[in-house]
Amino acid sequence: MAKIARIWAREILDSRGLPTVEAACQLDSGMLSVSSAPAGTSTGTHEALELRDTDSPRYLGKGVLKAVGNVNSVLGPALVGIDPSNQQASDAKLIEIDGTENKSKYGANAILAVSQAVCKAGSMEQRLPLYMWILALAQQVGLKPVVRVPTPLFNMINGGLHGAGNLDFQEFHVIPASTKPYSQGLQMGVEIYQTIGENLARRGAIHSVGNEGGYAPNLFTNADALEVFVESIRDTKYSIGRDVFLGLDVAADSFYKDGEYIIRDKSSPLDDNGLLEFYKSLNNQYHLALIEDPFQEDAWESWKKLRETFQDQVTVVGDDLLATNPKRVQKAIAENACNAILVKPNQIGTVTETLKVIKMSRDAGWKVITSHRSGETNDTFIADFGVGTGSDYVKFGAPARGERVAKYNRLSSIEGELSRIKK
Ligand code: PGA
Ligand code: ZN
Repeated sequence: MAKIARIWAREILDSRGLPTVEAACQLDSGMLSVSSAPAGTSTGTHEALELRDTDSPRYLGKGVLKAVGNVNSVLGPALVGIDPSNQQASDAKLIEIDGTENKSKYGANAILAVSQAVCKAGSMEQRLPLYMWILALAQQVGLKPVVRVPTPLFNMINGGLHGAGNLDFQEFHVIPASTKPYSQGLQMGVEIYQTIGENLARRGAIHSVGNEGGYAPNLFTNADALEVFVESIRDTKYSIGRDVFLGLDVAADSFYKDGEYIIRDKSSPLDDNGLLEFYKSLNNQYHLALIEDPFQEDAWESWKKLRETFQDQVTVVGDDLLATNPKRVQKAIAENACNAILVKPNQIGTVTETLKVIKMSRDAGWKVITSHRSGETNDTFIADFGVGTGSDYVKFGAPARGERVAKYNRLSSIEGELSRIKK
């Protein structure tokens, strides 16, 4: 049995050109694994703390040398001698020495990078592909994942805090039918993505891309983006409702202020009921399959009302609402505030805690969506995590930009491996 010999970290850049933490884990057998923490732009207030050097002018206060130092001097040394296959023990140690509710002592970015690097080292030690090792870890917390490549949610148009265009909603999704094999869904996604680009160019709209690789156009309204989808999909051989479906990550916190939501579709600000009515009309017109963060992250009553209105016809996803946090998930289950969770490991800070949150969500009958962040690296850990946890969907952005396609390409490779195992 190999043991952890050394863990260390360094500061690297994410896809937005901002610093993040990369951790390396070396075993006494000589094997080495590396993993990095992603970072959000539209982060929820209930997320674990991302430690940045706000008191230093380096990288405009966004450096992560303190987090890196915490790995090198505290977190790493604490794990030396532990069996890397004992993910629960190493994560428990990280949680214990941080000792805070939200990982604010040593930083969730430091802790997650270490937790993921240990997980990769565990898979090497077990001589299993990472997704198979994550499957075993998921089973340890009581999950019974069905291993398949999840359906991708392609974020084709980026608005809100993610795009330089003028849209208020953050993400406009095209979702292949779940019955399609991943490779077919990917091909459909790419063909539709390219067609959307051509249509935006024809309209004279800006078609450069945002943080997650989706186009970031100026349009008259948010509904217009869905209209662009309808037109573009009509130009392909696919049809909405049969081959693909539409979805939204509204990220409502980003346009909420003093009890009101300000969106360009309406001349005056909306209250929660007004916004719900707007969603109803969008749904009548575009048959939304999925809506994420439709209301501000603490508007529990409005979330409940939306669930009562749409029942299970629409997948209602909690991201900022839940922050991958067991207490928030428990409350949302009790209140029937949503029927799906967006899983972002860096919102909670360790692999084990993330698996436990997924278990809770599954027990409530929810759908599970494993997600990247807007600030990503080329680490593909999250792709294996989506497969190993039996997630229904993965959200990795548009099928464009290196840090996004790295994940989609990893899923292609896993799909190939799984089909060979089945034969
Ligand atoms: P973030 O966006 O990574 O900037 O938080 C992703 C999302 O809101 O789903
Ligand atoms: Zn979101």
